[in-house]
Amino acid sequence: MLWLLLLTLPCLGASVPELPAPAPERELVGIVGGHSAPQGKWPWQVSLRVYVYHWASWVHICGGSLIHPRWVLTAAHCISRKDADPSAYRIHAGDVYLYGGRTLLNVSRVVVHPDYISAFLGFDLALLKLASPVRTSRRLRPVTLPLQSLDFGPEDECWLSGWGRVFYYEPLRPPYRLQHVQIPLEEERACEQSYRKFLHARANGRVIPEDMLCAGTLGRGPCMGDSGGPLVCKKTGTWVQVGVVSWGIGCSMYELPAVFTNVQMHVDWIRQQLRRRR
Ligand SMILES: *[C@@H]1O[C@H](CO)[C@@H](O)[C@H](O)[C@H]1NC(C)=O
Repeated sequence: MLWLLLLTLPCLGASVPELPAPAPERELVGIVGGHSAPQGKWPWQVSLRVYVYHWASWVHICGGSLIHPRWVLTAAHCISRKDADPSAYRIHAGDVYLYGGRTLLNVSRVVVHPDYISAFLGFDLALLKLASPVRTSRRLRPVTLPLQSLDFGPEDECWLSGWGRVFYYEPLRPPYRLQHVQIPLEEERACEQSYRKFLHARANGRVIPEDMLCAGTLGRGPCMGDSGGPLVCKKTGTWVQVGVVSWGIGCSMYELPAVFTNVQMHVDWIRQQLRRRR
């Protein structure tokens, strides 16, 4: 399983697993294969920060999305532990420029999904409650969560956004502007099959957990630092958050999609937390 790669930014000295030489570089600008996002196009996109003493600053480790004026959705693997101290995190919101000097928001509560063990087993989602609600604006507002009755498939228009690396060995450069890319959803069975083939998986049981979905392709998808960020699809004119970036193999270096937490399958749990922890 050495190949499977979490898409958190390994800024805390974590070693990057060894991979074969990357595919020949092509004209790749962006998330991987993306471009600069206009201000206000993805107003729910946030950056999760932790304090790094070495740099004496709050550094981006993951993406996230505003799902309510007081709540951020991200990946569980972005949070170090279930009893994480909320004061160890800050949220950047409302600006496509990552270090543009905006006031960071405080977090008052961290809720990691209780069934989360490892991203490769699913349940890779967490909620962060903001110390005070954001004032929504053109540049900052919550994304819509999917109704359970909706069906999403390869025919839907879906976009991914984030401040992650633009290529496996290449971080996003100043001025750290949010990147976005349109990526196709992949059918569950086709995704499972291509992963099994790639990993030479012989065992029974699934490679892609039941509560996850696949999207992206060669040259277009998330990379380290995009974890926790939103995958949105357009339904009747509204952007709906369908996925949370979780893991992949390399960064869109192979003909393989990346793997996301399927938000639709967790909407009930999310709503329940928001109600219960008001
Ligand atoms: C966030 O929390 C810190 C530490 O408790 C505090 O000093 C700071 O004023 C808070 N920031 C905001 C915007 O409330």
